[in-house]
Amino acid sequence: MSRIISGKELSIKLKAEMASQVATFPEKYGRVPHLVVILVGEDPASQSYVRGKAKASEVVGIRNTTILKPADISEKELLDLIDSLNNDPSVDGILVQLPLPDHISEDKVIAAISKDKDVDGFHPLNVAALWQKQPCTVPCTPKGIIRMLDEAGVEIKGKRAVVIGRSQIVGLPVAKLLLDRNATVTICHSRTVDLPSVTRSAEILVVAIGRPRFVTADMVSPGTVVIDVGVNRDPETGKLCGDVDYQAVEPLASVITPVPGGVGPMTITCLMENTIELFLRHMQEA
Ligand code: GUN
Repeated sequence: MSRIISGKELSIKLKAEMASQVATFPEKYGRVPHLVVILVGEDPASQSYVRGKAKASEVVGIRNTTILKPADISEKELLDLIDSLNNDPSVDGILVQLPLPDHISEDKVIAAISKDKDVDGFHPLNVAALWQKQPCTVPCTPKGIIRMLDEAGVEIKGKRAVVIGRSQIVGLPVAKLLLDRNATVTICHSRTVDLPSVTRSAEILVVAIGRPRFVTADMVSPGTVVIDVGVNRDPETGKLCGDVDYQAVEPLASVITPVPGGVGPMTITCLMENTIELFLRHMQEA
């Protein structure tokens, strides 16, 4: 078992498996899964994520349509576009890259995507289904984190897990998935009183807070499994860095995910998996 979990390597393996699965679809179903990604504006980070999604689709053999819209698109125009994709039977998955410009309500946009085409698992009905332990689309990053833990042979059951971050996209759903696997979970945040004493109690520590090198060595007990969800720019070097001070924490951790090359690639891989799942559901319903 490697101490450093490479999400990149695991992604390559999983994508190759999906590619052989997708290769059987034209004969079985007459077409391959189709993912539509909408990017509003020209934020460089979002552009890079969207490119990553298109590239992964190509590797897996999924049809990808990326729709670029100007930052000043009206909310109505975006909602109308989503509506037309909801009604297009050739589309299996719809993803609107976040964040959106201030004049567009992200909540409205997320709720406008048909629950059955919501590859992100962000729709309120998907969120509700996850918390009610009903069949749902599991959000990509939390799903990828659980996959990495399983791949690394980390036992989740019975462990004390601490999640720093309470976002709808990562913190809350990953806490729920850990709870469902019978970990005992504490959800905390940057303003948690005496945060280091809480994080030191963790056997599994998931950090999704979006602050460069927020988790320092004094916050981590020896032997902890450390999952770093952060993608930040180092304020000094401008390079990509995580929420964890990797240099200082890596020697303490029993298992750790690097940034880049850890959780990030797994998010995109799970997006591919979700697209295939939605496609198969559509084919079974058709
Ligand atoms: N922006 C950053 N991460 C994500 C994601 O997982 N999905 C979407 N739609 N936007 C994002």
